[in-house]
Amino acid sequence: MCGIVGYIGDKSVVDILIDGLHQLEYRGYDSAGIAVKCEDKINIYKAEGKLENLSCVLTTHKSEYQKATMGIGHIRWATHGAPTVVNAHPHTCNCGNLVIVHNGIIENFKELRAQLELKGAKFKTQTDTEVVAHLIAYKYADTKDLTKAVQLATKEIEGAYALCIMHNEEKDKMVATKRNAPLLVGIGEGEFYVASDVPAIIKHTKKAMYLNDNEIVTLTKEKMVLINSNGEELQQKIETLPWEPVALSKMGYKHFMLKEIHEQPDVIRNILVGKIHTSEEPIILNEVKLTKEKLKELNRIQIIACGTSLHAAMIGKYIIENFCSIAVDVEPSSEYIYRKNVTDSHTLVIGVSQSGETADTLTAIKQAKAKGSHILIITNRPDSAMAREADSLVPVSAGIEVSVAATKSYVAQLVSFYLLALYMAEIKESLDESLIKSLKSDLTQIPQKIEQILSHKERILECAKKYSNTKDFIYVARGINYPTALEGALKLKEISYINATGYPAGELKHGPIAMLDESMPVLSILMKGSVYEKLLSNSEEAKARNARMIALTNSKDEKLKDLFEFILEVPDVQELLSPIIAIVPLQLIAYYIAEYLGKDVDQPRNLAKSVTVE
Ligand code: AGP
Repeated sequence: MCGIVGYIGDKSVVDILIDGLHQLEYRGYDSAGIAVKCEDKINIYKAEGKLENLSCVLTTHKSEYQKATMGIGHIRWATHGAPTVVNAHPHTCNCGNLVIVHNGIIENFKELRAQLELKGAKFKTQTDTEVVAHLIAYKYADTKDLTKAVQLATKEIEGAYALCIMHNEEKDKMVATKRNAPLLVGIGEGEFYVASDVPAIIKHTKKAMYLNDNEIVTLTKEKMVLINSNGEELQQKIETLPWEPVALSKMGYKHFMLKEIHEQPDVIRNILVGKIHTSEEPIILNEVKLTKEKLKELNRIQIIACGTSLHAAMIGKYIIENFCSIAVDVEPSSEYIYRKNVTDSHTLVIGVSQSGETADTLTAIKQAKAKGSHILIITNRPDSAMAREADSLVPVSAGIEVSVAATKSYVAQLVSFYLLALYMAEIKESLDESLIKSLKSDLTQIPQKIEQILSHKERILECAKKYSNTKDFIYVARGINYPTALEGALKLKEISYINATGYPAGELKHGPIAMLDESMPVLSILMKGSVYEKLLSNSEEAKARNARMIALTNSKDEKLKDLFEFILEVPDVQELLSPIIAIVPLQLIAYYIAEYLGKDVDQPRNLAKSVTVE
């Protein structure tokens, strides 16, 4: 996590850095800081908390930095050391001549710190980053060459990093490098930008170069030089970014999350364009590069993902197994990477990630790739690190998602899984033709149904207010909607901090039922279909323990009124597609509860949109 930016050119640097950091706020917002080259010294400005606090600090120092045209900046998601001003980046060496910003984790920082302390380094922070500042400073003292110093220092560093560095004695020079963390250089006329991600530079330039691991770039106003870790000059791979600058606006909504929930019908329509023409014609999914023969032979799929993307993956498993009769395992990436797993060249590995940068998933994908698996990536960021590892890239095209709580990207991932599963089912001829047709036809009706939910939100708001004073919240479901229960609970806990948990309803009686009493809301995702009656019985069992029963249902059964104290109705939909409908009211319940409780909906505490550390 964390976002870094840098600029060298003729423009006033502070505004560029602050705007760049603003675009990277999704990567963290615990503290922020910048270092700018002013006359004969480098000035550092930092603030705890949101970026606006740094902007306040800066207003009182304007005269110091007005003429500055070179600087680096950082927005932090704390890993080592509390989110205080002292621990905020940029960090410096003993004399303050060298400044550095870092995204990643230095794994051998303790050993390095001990060695550097013996040499006289005086540490002021609890961060892992400060060791890099001292280490490069010592190498600089020997070499008097910042690029060389970075090259030597990075050979001793273990872990993940994207670094941007300036030194007061190197008048107009900036050095940047990376390993297992994203970094790109934007190229302007007589100016360069450095950033963790495209949004920080796209309004200035579309010409850019992504750095590969262990490459080091040296920037002056006039030129950029790229070398490898041995100091050999490399050819620069400059590309035109396939991006348009987008003004990230809430479009009149109070929060990005609410806006993004409302975008879902159009997101689904966009995804379906060109993929489903009529229910009679086969699905077109040219993004899948496995040959039809390979797809027919396929008998094992592994899906790896984290958080909300993991919940989409669980639904993906359900439908692929159901439609294609292929065995699918789903695993959190963070578990996949630390065990012996039997991925091989006959396994299709699907990585799911909104950001395409999640470190755990990226590492898992690389491990699977090394074993010869075909890698299919479902991501909202076709320009991401994961996309670059993909053999097949299925972009979900949900548009930029700003709110830390994922909503539209989740629905987009679900739709992509439906398309993929139907595409494979058609090739394998593994599903009844009439069912395939009805699924395709009903899929195209989903946007209108979500619009119906969105145009009758009052009842959802009423539900949210009624249960907003609870400390705990249970979501239950069975079958295809069990992951919906998990996702509903995740949404609520991440933005309202209420202890919400999703359970397969049949598991209640194996333990969780002990928690039920008259204070506990239990929301049943009661969609008509194969497990409806079973879930009804499980809901009866919860009601018998006095739980406050809520139903989210597409059933008009009058009997439900005796069992549930609150009923939220959703438009009718066939069971196999119901997760796309059922999640929308749950997103809204979470949103309204958090909003009612006065929480920071778009930037909840302790979280970051893109988790680029393991
Ligand atoms: C979702 O609301 C969360 N913010 C989080 O669980 C997220 O889904 C997870 O970090 C995975 O991110 P990715 O999809 O970008 O890989």
